[in-house]
Amino acid sequence: MTLRVAGGLSSLSPALDILRHMERPFGLVPTMGYLHEGHLALIRAAREAGCATVVTVFVNPTQFAPGEDFASYPRDEKRDFRLASHAGADLVWFPKAEVIYPAGWQTSVLPGALAKRLCGLSRPHFFGGVCSVVLRLFQIIQPQHAWFGEKDFQQLVILRRMVVDFFLPVTLHGMPTVREPDGLAMSSRNARLAPERRDLALTLWRCICRARQAYGAGRRDAATLLAELRADWPAELGLDYMEFRDPKELELQEKLGPKTRLFLAAWLDGVRLIDNSPLE
Ligand code: PAF
Repeated sequence: MTLRVAGGLSSLSPALDILRHMERPFGLVPTMGYLHEGHLALIRAAREAGCATVVTVFVNPTQFAPGEDFASYPRDEKRDFRLASHAGADLVWFPKAEVIYPAGWQTSVLPGALAKRLCGLSRPHFFGGVCSVVLRLFQIIQPQHAWFGEKDFQQLVILRRMVVDFFLPVTLHGMPTVREPDGLAMSSRNARLAPERRDLALTLWRCICRARQAYGAGRRDAATLLAELRADWPAELGLDYMEFRDPKELELQEKLGPKTRLFLAAWLDGVRLIDNSPLE
């Protein structure tokens, strides 16, 4: 049975007590809802790791700047609960903003250099909001483990850094990006893509495939490969970035290696698309 909590800490606390009786470590899967297979893979992984699995569904306002898609971000609590429950969640919590950020709240996390590249350049508020909410969820739920998708690879690297910097007693697990059969990285925001624009959205995945192929064929020079990929980029798809970086410090790479990742972000009809992959 999956417990559903929609209230604040006074309703969450007895539900967490019930989970404690399972005598298993707590595994947290923080989400912003509108769950897809990518989220469900995280929930299953937490379950398979033997954790009492807590899923949070919270569209976190502090990671959106004014004018971004906070209001239009897809939401469906009933569906999220059903899917999370089928995937094996023991508890799904739908906190309200006033629970996570009560009156008087004023302390945030300020991530450093890792947050000032890639998505951090066009969304400077974003990783501070992510770190702040994830830290608060960690403090409230006190999980021993937490799962995040590698589609948001930069987010995972920054959260790993936060765990080290704050000596947080939690182990983070990254899970590979789950893709649609045609290769499109699963994302809650895909629900807002018009069907006739989907082919354009696939450009990111096509770039990744070309880069991997080129790497397999012996190409090692980042600049010339990027120039070729950029030359074929469709004008209708607003490119935010296309960069080769290493997976640990997210430094730009001139010479490609097997672990080098291609990072891509673009805007399509107001929908933000991101993707990344190692070259091998
Ligand atoms: O990856 C997400 O969905 C969000 O950034 C997260 C980690 C749930 C924080 O709001």
